[in-house]
Amino acid sequence: MASVLLTGGTGRLGRAAERSLLHKGDRVRILSRGAAPAGRDPDTWATGDLSTGRGLAEALLNIDTIVHLATSGRGDPDSAGHLIKAANAAGRPHLIYTSIVGVDRIPLFYYRAKLATEDLVQGSGLPWTILRSTQFHDLVFGLFASQRRLPLVIAPAIRFQPIDVRDVAAQLAGLVQAGPSGRVPDIGGPEVASAKDFAEITIEALGSRRRLLSARLPGKTFAAYRAGHNLAPDSLAGTITFGQFAAEASNRL
Ligand SMILES: NC(=O)c1ccc[n+]([C@@H]2O[C@H](COP(=O)([O-])OP(=O)(O)OC[C@H]3O[C@@H](n4cnc5c(N)ncnc54)[C@H](OP(=O)(O)O)[C@@H]3O)[C@@H](O)[C@H]2O)c1
Repeated sequence: MASVLLTGGTGRLGRAAERSLLHKGDRVRILSRGAAPAGRDPDTWATGDLSTGRGLAEALLNIDTIVHLATSGRGDPDSAGHLIKAANAAGRPHLIYTSIVGVDRIPLFYYRAKLATEDLVQGSGLPWTILRSTQFHDLVFGLFASQRRLPLVIAPAIRFQPIDVRDVAAQLAGLVQAGPSGRVPDIGGPEVASAKDFAEITIEALGSRRRLLSARLPGKTFAAYRAGHNLAPDSLAGTITFGQFAAEASNRL
């Protein structure tokens, strides 16, 4: 049984990761900038801020594994630096970091920062594991659901292989048990299809009827997506399809 500090435990992947870890019998402490919810066992929650390092020493007390999922949308190498410094001072727990397929080949600012964070993890002096995953179902669904009231839904002429956070969470729980493994094989969802196909599934699940347009967008970033650098076709690992997710998500909207 591992004692896990889960950064980003209040986020999309983090909530699923907590359930998977508890299911495996691990002890979990969530790190959040917020206060513990009422009634929560205080040992399972730590209030702290990765961007400043506040609260990290206390959060890491009696922890043997960190599952680092927190993100501000900036890729956060500075936050990882604070976490690594605190972890080195706290008995050098196993650090597991979740990255994204294609961070080394798609020239997005966020991806460059995630790649820099991967480098920090590898040179951290801590035992480490890095798992890259494809886009989450939530992200792809949100991209098209946000257009549902427009007369035309535009999908870039690229492919996606979205994965459910519950599948990534199950993988992470296995990596906690496996121990430090270095860079492990990328993980992707069960289907590779065009963005237009995923747009169609989203709009149908929402009960809307909209015209869909596949648009070839310019620039190096879209060229990298068109080349498939966001895909992990050798790892159709997820079990929950985008259609299943879309049906559930549209009921929640
Ligand atoms: N979305 C995708 O398609 C995708 C694909 C592959 C990999 N990933 C990676 O998976 C990870 C999780 O993504 P997600 O979409 O689940 O994230 P998310 O829902 O946006 O959640 C972000 C989390 O980060 C925490 N956080 C932000 N700033 C913090 C700070 N300064 N100190 C402490 N905690 C902070 C938040 O906690 P509080 O607000 O409670 O403080 C929150 O729990 C990220 O590393 C992301 O890059 C995402």
